[in-house]
Amino acid sequence: MDRQTAEKRIAELRRTIEHHNRLYYQQDAPSISDAEYDRLMRELQELEALYPDDHLASSPTQRVGAPPLAKFAPFVHPSAMLSLSNAFTDQDIVEFDERLRRLVKTDVISYIAEPKLDGLAVNLIYEKGRLIRGATRGDGTTGEDVTANLKTISDVPLTLNSNLSRIPDLLEVRGEVYMKTGPFETLNRRRVESEEEPFANPRNAAAGSLRQLDSRITARRPLNACFYAVAQALGCAFSTHWEALAALKSWGFPVNELVDKAGSIVACIDYYHRLSDLRKDLPYEIDGVVLKVNDLSLQEQIGSVSRSPRWAIACKFPAAKAETIVTDIVVQVGRTGILTPVAIMQPVSLSGVIVSRATLHNEDEIRKKDIRIGDTVVIQRAGDVIPEVVEVDPSKRSGAEKTFFMPLHCPQCGSDVVRLEGEVAHRCVNLSCPAQLKEHLRHFASRGAMDIEGLGAKMTARLFDENLIADPADLYYLTEKQLLALDRQAEKSVRNLLDSIHRSKNPPLDKFIFALGIRHVGERTARILASTFGTFDHLSKATSDELIRIREIGPEIAASIVEFFREPKNVIVLEKFQKAGVIPKSLKQAPASAPLAGESFVFTGTLSSMGRSDAKAAVEKAGGSVLSSVSSKTTFVVAGDDPGSKLDKARALGISILSEEEFIKRIHGVDP
Ligand code: IVH
Repeated sequence: MDRQTAEKRIAELRRTIEHHNRLYYQQDAPSISDAEYDRLMRELQELEALYPDDHLASSPTQRVGAPPLAKFAPFVHPSAMLSLSNAFTDQDIVEFDERLRRLVKTDVISYIAEPKLDGLAVNLIYEKGRLIRGATRGDGTTGEDVTANLKTISDVPLTLNSNLSRIPDLLEVRGEVYMKTGPFETLNRRRVESEEEPFANPRNAAAGSLRQLDSRITARRPLNACFYAVAQALGCAFSTHWEALAALKSWGFPVNELVDKAGSIVACIDYYHRLSDLRKDLPYEIDGVVLKVNDLSLQEQIGSVSRSPRWAIACKFPAAKAETIVTDIVVQVGRTGILTPVAIMQPVSLSGVIVSRATLHNEDEIRKKDIRIGDTVVIQRAGDVIPEVVEVDPSKRSGAEKTFFMPLHCPQCGSDVVRLEGEVAHRCVNLSCPAQLKEHLRHFASRGAMDIEGLGAKMTARLFDENLIADPADLYYLTEKQLLALDRQAEKSVRNLLDSIHRSKNPPLDKFIFALGIRHVGERTARILASTFGTFDHLSKATSDELIRIREIGPEIAASIVEFFREPKNVIVLEKFQKAGVIPKSLKQAPASAPLAGESFVFTGTLSSMGRSDAKAAVEKAGGSVLSSVSSKTTFVVAGDDPGSKLDKARALGISILSEEEFIKRIHGVDP
């Protein structure tokens, strides 16, 4: 093929593939098979490899995803990603405006009102108009580098349009990655069909899809993105947020079409109510509106407090409510043997998501609200919490409703159910109750714990029922042969499952601790334990006294941890983990790929973009350490404004001195 023919074919393939992307993602109406699509994509990839051109950076081939990563690299945000303070009522909004007007001594403030999309925040960095990095928010200072995943989302520009505004050398933009409700329902339906765990809501689906180590999976998920802030645009000056949004649009970023100017707080409140009404008809979930002071110099004057800007506020909508009928009350047995009653309801749409189950918490709660089988109830769902029954409408009773009683025997294993003194919960007393063991296994593999892709509730239960696993360590002894013997297990999915189990062998210490399911040890406690003890070995040898000395840990948690490591059954499981090579990462040892591994920093003077503790956290996250005084072992001294004698000492010792800007580049792994 000559170059000219190739170029024509390349252009044609790009157009065709983009057309099919639109059909697949936006209209949910693919007109060709996956195999046909893959063939077009491969042809384009091959031609592009032979005949590279200037438009390669924005070609659909750049969005197919890359081979899986072992883990996400930490990404320190050049400017911290703040969060917003909340308003819940009109009065809160009025007070917000009054506070600001007092502060800047003015009569009226103009705002920009925006819908608050319910997805996850991302930060994108463009250099000379090209997307170079993208990350999740994380803790606001450091997120996860999900560049390969973000590139698969068609709303994320790979290169910027330059026809209208000038392109800044460096651009940092903020936006939200989200999933529309229609595609979310379809995705969940497909997941249920293929025996995968459905997502609880579009936000979780978006987060779960974006945080895939294999970006080729992200590429097949219907994700959208929209953008709402310019954090940095070197060489571009805007005087209002409105102008910044206009620039975003001209560079090719989608900006939500409902964003509007509001000349006063009255207009803001009006907008808030308008969107609250519109909400149920929108094709995506919003959980409020965000008000931002339009004038950027005014924003600067108003400033920020702790982690949120004072010039913006999130006005939250009240929880979405709907009416439905309770058709049954079933009992679920959890990992610790707690029996939870769950209402099964006629499916009803709650802000765009179909809901058919709601937790009833415990028997007391059912009595208090007097919920009976057959009752008409109001349910609500706020944020990503599980839907719950708010109240019963007794006027709709026919008399045929049935009162619910907690079973006397565990519905799963038939053992006695007891209610311990002082507890609201009923428990199954059998420690080897299969329901508990299954829950324990599910918890181990779940997203917040070991995060083993493809190993949801159904799969863990199945492996357990087939006697392939009895405890979580058994997962690491599964063989291809055993799995292939399970019916309907295709070779490819068996291999994927074994791969993801294998990949989970070096979990972060806190995730491993959490995954073990030690009673009273949730995610937060697990993090505290990990950072206090640094290694799993140290934790396993901790005494009750040592544990109680940790601020957040009381005698009950301490006893439960000590008990866990003493229990002979657990000792055996832990040994099995070790033999299988499941070794959690020690915390103090940053991975060698961390940009600052092995480097030590000393700060002097004031940094303008972050406080000392943020700077320290950023260094540590990137694998370096921070010392308080300069010695010959120090690798870098960071000099902020008004540096002290440490700078002189650094000079005397010939230690590299970094400006704030150079420091920020370092923590990003860029050599200045
Ligand atoms: S502005 C300093 N605008 O809400 C500005 N945030 O707590 C901070 N969000 O993490 C964000 N829509 O994920 C802003 N139009 C919007 C937004 C928005 C959704 C999310 C974002 C952020 C959280 C704020």
